[in-house]
Amino acid sequence: MQGRERVEESRCEEWRYGVGLFAYETENVAGYCVPESMSSEDPLFILYTSGSTGKPKEVVHTTALTVKYVFDVHPGDKFACMTDIGWITGHTYIIYGPLTLGTTTTVFESTPVYPSLARYWETVEKHGLTHFYSAPTAIRLLRRLGKSFVFIRGHHHLQPFTLSTLRVLGSVGEPINPEAWEWYNEYVGRKECSIVDTFWQTETGSIVLTPFPGAIETKPGAAQVPFFGQAPVLVEATTGKLVEGTGEGVLCTSNTYMKPYPGYFYTGDGAARDEDGDIWIKGRVDDVINVSGHRLSTAEIESALILHKGVAETAVIGTADDLTGQAVHAFVTMKPEFSYSSSDEASLVKELVIQVRKVIGPFAAPKKVYIVGDLPKTRSGKIMRRIMRKIVAGEGDQLGDLSTVAEPSVVDQIKQKVAESQ
Ligand code: WTA
Repeated sequence: MQGRERVEESRCEEWRYGVGLFAYETENVAGYCVPESMSSEDPLFILYTSGSTGKPKEVVHTTALTVKYVFDVHPGDKFACMTDIGWITGHTYIIYGPLTLGTTTTVFESTPVYPSLARYWETVEKHGLTHFYSAPTAIRLLRRLGKSFVFIRGHHHLQPFTLSTLRVLGSVGEPINPEAWEWYNEYVGRKECSIVDTFWQTETGSIVLTPFPGAIETKPGAAQVPFFGQAPVLVEATTGKLVEGTGEGVLCTSNTYMKPYPGYFYTGDGAARDEDGDIWIKGRVDDVINVSGHRLSTAEIESALILHKGVAETAVIGTADDLTGQAVHAFVTMKPEFSYSSSDEASLVKELVIQVRKVIGPFAAPKKVYIVGDLPKTRSGKIMRRIMRKIVAGEGDQLGDLSTVAEPSVVDQIKQKVAESQ
């Protein structure tokens, strides 16, 4: 009671003197809170699944050990998950994970480019951060802005930010193109950090695939091996048969009662296994395009396009085609430092088409390439291919729920670009 009166009193003071109430409230709380022992299977929180995996489902989450083992956290470390706190990656890796281990955590507000383009690197240097976990969209954005925004003291780069405290860099949320991975490794990690490409879903409740820092030789673009207790399998999309050894299929985890593959939980992601047994995530299965019988992953075509020196980001979609069943359409944004005029656009488009033909093969060549200012994304940075798919299919007036689009004006720009090119 006494405490509450004091707070009431302080509220008046705050009113009178304009002093923050927060400072008074903290005086009433002990600096240390005795931890409660929990079973790892006790409920931790409930969350509805994200729009990226379809109809929302309510999922009860328990506790896993991923911060400790995936990020190799030790006493004294300073962990930073730089994603939106409203996304499951945000609250899990900003709050529950690090705080359960008693690790210092960072709550980052704003975006990677506000108030300055060096916002991430200032934060890393100021706090001496050891861990940095972000999404490919942020990594590609910073790559797009050029090398000069990550700087290594004493190196030939322009500005003096020290990133040498960083030990482990994480990526999550979408397949990371090898090009973006290499940039992250070279300019942020100085080729000295472990990079963990962590694949998981709100539904899986824990990281499913990841390299383990220092213990696994990483491959740019591969999420690689199962985390403890996870049993990922590849299943042939049409027959539902297990894919053993090398090959491609849809990614599932065993031991549940789900449909459409009895005995497996279906992630909705396509994946491939290489000769070392490492798994590569290819993207959402509805992002697979079938051109004249060739099954092409959008992620693969996007990675081929991004190899072009001027390309910042790409989104590839499939659209119905009388001749080939489906045709490839590519949306591309260019790096700001790559200058070209509108008269160069046609030859630039040609270069991009040739790029895909060379890297993958003639059947993967985009039928159309649209050079745009930006791509529609969710607030957690996932590219919303469904919007571009509908616009190209002439259903731009039936885009459905757009409440998760981060920047709605981008949708209109895409509509205009597609209309112009018809
Ligand atoms: C995608 C919670 C490739 C995937 C993290 C998945 C990824 C969906 C990766 C889940 C990754 C997540 N590589 N794709 N490392 N991590 N995804 O629940 O399509 O918002 O099914 O993410 O994100 O979305 P959610």
